[in-house]
Amino acid sequence: MSYLETTHDVYKEAALTPDVGLCCTTNPIWELPGLKIPKIMQEMNYGCGSTVHARDLTNNPTMLYVGVGGGMELLQFAYFNRQKGGVIGLDVVDEMLEASRKNFKEAEAQNDWFKSEFVDLRKGDALNLPVEDNSIDVAAQNCLFNIFKTDDLKKAIAEMYRVLKPHGKLVMSDPTCEQPMNETLRNDERLRALCLSGSLPIAEYVKMLTDAGFGTIEIRARKPYRILDPKNYPTDELIYIESIEVAAIKDPMPADGPCIFTGKAAIYFGTEDYFDDEKGHVLLKNQPIAICDKTAKALADLGRDDIFISESTYHYDGGGCC
Ligand SMILES: C[S@@+](CC[C@H](N)C(=O)[O-])C[C@H]1O[C@@H](n2cnc3c(N)ncnc32)[C@H](O)[C@@H]1O
Repeated sequence: MSYLETTHDVYKEAALTPDVGLCCTTNPIWELPGLKIPKIMQEMNYGCGSTVHARDLTNNPTMLYVGVGGGMELLQFAYFNRQKGGVIGLDVVDEMLEASRKNFKEAEAQNDWFKSEFVDLRKGDALNLPVEDNSIDVAAQNCLFNIFKTDDLKKAIAEMYRVLKPHGKLVMSDPTCEQPMNETLRNDERLRALCLSGSLPIAEYVKMLTDAGFGTIEIRARKPYRILDPKNYPTDELIYIESIEVAAIKDPMPADGPCIFTGKAAIYFGTEDYFDDEKGHVLLKNQPIAICDKTAKALADLGRDDIFISESTYHYDGGGCC
């Protein structure tokens, strides 16, 4: 059996018997005015962060969500769009599509504004999306891509890139791990399917996205996720796993490399009212400006003693340079 078949079986089981602890998230289940999330959707929340960010969702974007789970995030996306077929939901597991279809009926009963037809549920594989080129404004996946091995991950990212419109956004949440994992863990198909042993370090994860052509990357959140300990897992050392929320934007690749926002800011505190690096960055005196890592390096390389550059907070929330 391949690891993809094991993954299929794990999620078939998770569709038939909801498993509250399957993927744990420290995110609160947020509800907006008039939005009720049915209990069954909360029990089937198999994500590791949130991919629903209001600032991505203005002007009725066309949306695609890959790996539907219990449908909670599709319902949250539909809240912002409220049109027939406004969100396409794809999954390879029939039982998961069926479970989410049932959950949308429950959501209809609890939310006056919601109709199941707002979500266009389709059978489809992340590795071969049944979606037209350049047709999507916002694509999302939550806790699926970390399962894929390198070649499949490349395919899955390339597929998302293909279907996004220029400047479209791929919004994701996935576990990441900065420690090396041994081969036994890496090759354990079930642990991989459970989002425990496939994760990459953040820099490698980001490089996969920029190698696919995404010109702008935003790391929006980074938080504790799981521990793999020697008593319960095949490892000699404690392994700490985090989860991140990331947006990859189909902006053209800048000639000097991608803009990767990891939550750094620059503050000018010199004698003038502002500092202008004449490359498009104007720093008002004692006002923080969000900067990408490339700009942070360029400003640091100036060697000035009146510009402070913060460490990465891994909480980028828009604005700033580039
Ligand atoms: C960890 S769950 C996450 C579910 C959902 N995104 C959430 O946050 O609750 C992974 C989801 O991806 C689906 N899946 C697994 N392999 C897939 C593939 N190759 N293509 C599309 N969906 C897949 C599973 O059926 C399951 O719904």
